[in-house]
Amino acid sequence: MDIGILGGTGPAGRGLAARLASAGHAVVLGSRDAERAEAVAEEVRTGAKGRAERVSGNANEQAAHAELVILATPWDSALATVSGLKSELAGKIVVSMVNALVKNGREMLPMYPPRGSVAEMIQAALPESLVAASFHHLPAGMMEDLDSGLEADVLVCSDHKSATEAVLAMLEGISGLRALNAGSLAQASAIEAFTAVAITLNIRYKTHSTLKMAGL
Ligand SMILES: NC(=O)c1ccc[n+]([C@@H]2O[C@H](COP(=O)([O-])OP(=O)(O)OC[C@H]3O[C@@H](n4cnc5c(N)ncnc54)[C@H](OP(=O)(O)O)[C@@H]3O)[C@@H](O)[C@H]2O)c1
Repeated sequence: MDIGILGGTGPAGRGLAARLASAGHAVVLGSRDAERAEAVAEEVRTGAKGRAERVSGNANEQAAHAELVILATPWDSALATVSGLKSELAGKIVVSMVNALVKNGREMLPMYPPRGSVAEMIQAALPESLVAASFHHLPAGMMEDLDSGLEADVLVCSDHKSATEAVLAMLEGISGLRALNAGSLAQASAIEAFTAVAITLNIRYKTHSTLKMAGL
């Protein structure tokens, strides 16, 4: 699959790109600055030691031309980023991994956008796209380090069956990840908010925990 990542030059985009490319997908890291994106892509390829050769970098506008597009910007620039790419994203699957969080001392706290989640806000802004929410709890550093021994469940939710199925299929065969269908996009509110708990645990226990659902 050809995958574009908007805001792909940050830790989250880099980590996801390394894993997806290691499973054979072609990934374009998008950025506001195409040169910066290519430089970051080079770092990801080098770090993966030949296992993520299909990662490249380009402007967000080019990344938005991919078959499936992932949104990986900070929460406060997510809406502006996709709003400028509405026509490029029409008819496509757009996966939001954005968490709206604020730091309060040694804790992260969730913020609730008026529609309940960032993903639902993005769906409202892109009525012609098939929005899904996923990847919220993945630790970026462990994702990029293909030898980190990462074992994590990945929750996927969407109001579009084809979007959920495409994300589940995309993650098939990616080492260390198990994708789970978590239902409709209404679940994104709880999924995004739970990231605050996960990061708070990481701060308190000085670690990078992952989500694993027992009994499934
Ligand atoms: N880090 C993690 O472990 C992790 C895990 C799961 C989910 N997430 C979520 O994924 C998203 C990205 O996380 P991150 O840690 O990679 O964030 P980040 O480094 O702060 O931002 C990612 C990229 O977004 C672009 N960006 C920054 N400000 C922007 C603006 N005002 N307008 C447009 N683009 C802007 C930048 O790319 P350019 O400057 O190149 O354009 C930046 O490299 C967040 O919403 C986060 O909650 C993070």
